[in-house]
This record gives sequence, C-alpha cells and structure tokens, in this order.
Amino acid sequence: MRLESFAPRLLHWYDEHRRDLPWRSTTDPYRIWLSEIILQQTRVAQGMPYYLKFTETFPTVTDLAAADERDVLRLWQGLGYYSRARNLHATARIVADEYGGAFPDSYAKLVQLKGIGPYTAAAIASFAWKEKVAVVDGNVFRVLSRIFGIATDIATPAAKKEFTELANRLIPADHPDLFNHAIMDFGATQCVPVSPVCLFCPFAGDCEAQATGRQAELPVKEKK
Ligand code: ADE
Repeated sequence: MRLESFAPRLLHWYDEHRRDLPWRSTTDPYRIWLSEIILQQTRVAQGMPYYLKFTETFPTVTDLAAADERDVLRLWQGLGYYSRARNLHATARIVADEYGGAFPDSYAKLVQLKGIGPYTAAAIASFAWKEKVAVVDGNVFRVLSRIFGIATDIATPAAKKEFTELANRLIPADHPDLFNHAIMDFGATQCVPVSPVCLFCPFAGDCEAQATGRQAELPVKEKK
C-alpha cells in the first residue's frame, strides 16, 4: 500500500474509535510519562485506577521524587513488576534533582535521561509537544508487519531499526500525537494478535497479511 494513504486511513479509523483516556487530555509530560510506565505491562482498565491514585497523591514529578519509596511501592501494590515502581521513583528523582522538575523538552534530550527509553521518549515528545516522532511497541510491530508484509524477526535490533524508520515515514507532521494514539489503539483493539477483525479493517484490500492469509504468521518472532 502507498505510504501516503496509511496515516489518513488510520486517523479516519481513530476518529470513529477514539477512547478518551485521562492521560490523553493532558499535555503535562509528567502525567504522560507516568501513564506510559503504568501501561507498560498493564491493560488500560487495570492501569486506570493506579494512574488516578498516583496523580492525586503525587500531582507533580517533584512530589513523587520527594516521596518515601515505601509509599510509592504501597501505591503500586497489585500492579506487579515492582521494579517499574522503583525505576519510576528513581527517574522522578533525576528529573527533580538534575532538571529542576522539568522534563527535557525534546525526544533527543529525553532519550539521554537514564530510565527513559526510545518508546517512552517518543510517547512524551509526541503527546506533550506534538513532536513528529513515532512510538514503536508491540502493537506497532504487529500492525506494520501485517499491512506491509514485513517478515523481519521483531526480536532483532535490525527489526527495531526497520520498523522505527517506517513508522517515522508514516507519521504525519500535523497530527503526530493522534497518529501514535491511533496506531496503539488499532493494534490493541482491532489488529489484535489472535483473530484480528479483518472484516471491518480500514486497510482491507491493501493489507499484505490479509491478502496472503498470513495474519497468524506476522509479526515474525523467533523463539530464543
Ligand atoms: N498503552 C500504552 N500506552 C498507552 C496509551 N497512551 N494509551 C492507551 N494504551 C496504552
């Protein structure tokens, strides 16, 4: 499919399927960052009450940084992967102590911050400042590998590079934030791992996986 028609179709789909989530109506990098850490290994429905509790208890990154680690862990209770909570707290302290409580204001500066990787930096930069930088996570691997018929093993650094380059060619300058939300949601609710909803897909007819019946084989992930 032509690269130029990808974003318009995705955004049209998002127009009809968008979810109004609390971290989507803010441009506060702290809240966006917090939501992404909570949602890393957690579904939206499970993460939502934690996001609300955290923002209520710690309204700013400085409040979170000043908290006792035990209180942070207590608030995290039930979410699992407790290293996430410890890293959250450690990164909050870096932002508070070394950056005066202000998140660095570009993707390039954010990725240099210990504790913030390419995915989280792209999410913050695109959602907070509308910087044109694509998020690349499991959803993005799945959606792009299927539509464009890319069989590169997603567990490899080469795949990370290939998908990141493609996503950054597809993301539009005028709505990078909407594009990133849309591709996440499209992967999470429609182009799902098992039994994707191809019948109502905006890319039907232009999706390589659908055309060749390889939905179940893409993305390729070799067992280690
Ligand atoms: N999963 C990870 N990030 C998310 C976001 N910003 N919105 C919904 N689900 C997500």
